[in-house]
Amino acid sequence: ALIMRHRMRISNRCVTAADILKELEEKCATPASKLKQISDAMTVEMHAGLASEGGSKLKMLISYVDNLPTGEEQGVFYALDLGGTNFRVLRVQLTGKSSIECQEFAEVSIPPQLMVGDAETLFDYIAAELAKFVADESEKFQLLAGRQRELGFTFSFPVMQLSIDSGTLIRWTKGFSIEKMIGQDVVVHLAEAMKRQGVNMRVSALVNDTVGTLAGGRYGNKDVVAAVILGTGSNAAYVERAQAIPKWHGPPPKTGEMVINMEWGNFRSSHLPLTEYDNKLDSESLNPGEQIFEKMISGMYLGEILRRVLLRMAEDAALFGDTVPPKLKTQFILRTPEMSAMHHDTSPDLNVVGSKLKDVFDISDAPLPTRKIVVEICNIMATRGARLAAAGILGILKKTGRDTVRDGDIPDTVVAMDGGLYEHYTEYRHCLENTLHELLGDEVGKHVKLVLSTDGSGIGAALLAASHSQYV
Ligand code: GLC
Repeated sequence: ALIMRHRMRISNRCVTAADILKELEEKCATPASKLKQISDAMTVEMHAGLASEGGSKLKMLISYVDNLPTGEEQGVFYALDLGGTNFRVLRVQLTGKSSIECQEFAEVSIPPQLMVGDAETLFDYIAAELAKFVADESEKFQLLAGRQRELGFTFSFPVMQLSIDSGTLIRWTKGFSIEKMIGQDVVVHLAEAMKRQGVNMRVSALVNDTVGTLAGGRYGNKDVVAAVILGTGSNAAYVERAQAIPKWHGPPPKTGEMVINMEWGNFRSSHLPLTEYDNKLDSESLNPGEQIFEKMISGMYLGEILRRVLLRMAEDAALFGDTVPPKLKTQFILRTPEMSAMHHDTSPDLNVVGSKLKDVFDISDAPLPTRKIVVEICNIMATRGARLAAAGILGILKKTGRDTVRDGDIPDTVVAMDGGLYEHYTEYRHCLENTLHELLGDEVGKHVKLVLSTDGSGIGAALLAASHSQYV
C-alpha cells in the first residue's frame, strides 16, 4: 500500500498548478455564444414555470403584488428582513409625496446554530429584536391610539404565497435547514413569536427580497421592471403580464400585471459550465441537486469554490509545499469578502493575498507566483459568476421583449440590484455590467441600466405593508 501511495504521489506530481489552472479556465469559459444559449434556456424555463405549478425547475412564484408603490403611500411602517447572514429591522415614515422621511435600522447577525435549529428559537430571537427596536422608539413614533403597528416581512426563501400576507415555505436555501418548518405558514410562525415576545404588530405583507427590492426600486424610478439579488444567495423578480401567467387562476389583477419571484437560483441547464469543484460542492452541501445556478454565482459559494480549487492544487501539485495545509480542508472557511479582497489586491507583492492566506489558512510566506495563481483563480470564478448572472438578466429581458428594438422603439429598462456581492465585489459588478452590455449590443444596451438599491428590499416591504394596510 505504501508503494502504491508513493506511486500515486509521483504520478500526481506530474500535474502542475499551471495545468490545473489552465484546465479550470477552459472548463469555466463563458463565451457570448454560450451565454446566449443559457439566456434562451432561462426564457424557456420561465415560460414552463408560468404555465403550470411544478412545470419547471424555475418556480416562478406568484407574489400577489399587483400594484407596485406609487409614491402616495403614507404613515409609519416597519419592515423585518430575514434571509442571509443578518437580519434587519427598520422603520420608515412615508410622507405621501414620494419621499421617505425617516429610516432607522437595527442589524443583527444570526447565530449559525439558529439556522439549523428549531423554528421557535429562530423566530423568538427575531421577535425579541423587534421588541427591543419598538421599545427604544422615540415618542415621535408612538402610533395613534388604538392603532396597531404594521410590518412588511421580507423572508428570502422560496415561499408559496397564499395571499399577500401569508405563505408556506417550500424549502430552505443558503445554509438554513429547519426541516419542521417546510410546508408551514411563515407568517404564523412570526406572529406567534411576536405574541410570545409581547410585540403587538400585524404582518401586512410577506415578500421575497427580490420583490421588496423591485417595490423599493419602483418607488423612486418608474422604469424599474425587475430586481436582482446578488448576495449570500441569488434570485430575481420581474413584472409579468397577467395574461402570460396561465397558472394564475385568481381574479385578474386591476393593473393587468403581477410580480413574479423567479427563484432563479434553482435554474439548471446542460449549457452551464459546471466543473468537478461545483459537483463536489453541490453533493456535499445541505441541499444537493438544488440551487445549482446559485451555487455558481452567489456570495455564499464563490469563496468555497476557490478553496476547493486551492485544495486540489495543494494535493495534486504541491502548491503550498510538501504537506497540505490542514485548514484548506475546512468547508466554507474562505468567505467571499476575503476572496474579493485578494482579487482586488493591487500591491506589487500581492501583500493582501499573502496576509489572507496566512489569516484564513495559516499558510505563511507563499511566494509571489503562488499568490498570482490565487488571484487568477479568483478572476476565473468571479468572471464566470458575473457573466452567468448577466445571462440570467438577459433571459428576463428576452421574456419581456426588452432585449431588442421593437417597432423602432426601445423602452428604458432599469433593473434594481441589491446584495453584498453586487455592492462590494467591484470586479464582479463591473464584469456583470460589461457582459450585459456586450450581450445586448450598444443600441439596446444604452437603454438598460442596473441600479444599486441598497436596503431596497426592506424599504420595499414597508411600502407594500403600507399599500396593504388594514387602515386604508
Ligand atoms: C435564495 C432564496 C431566494 C432569495 C435569494 C436571495 O436564492 O431561495 O428566495 O431571493 O436567495 O436572497
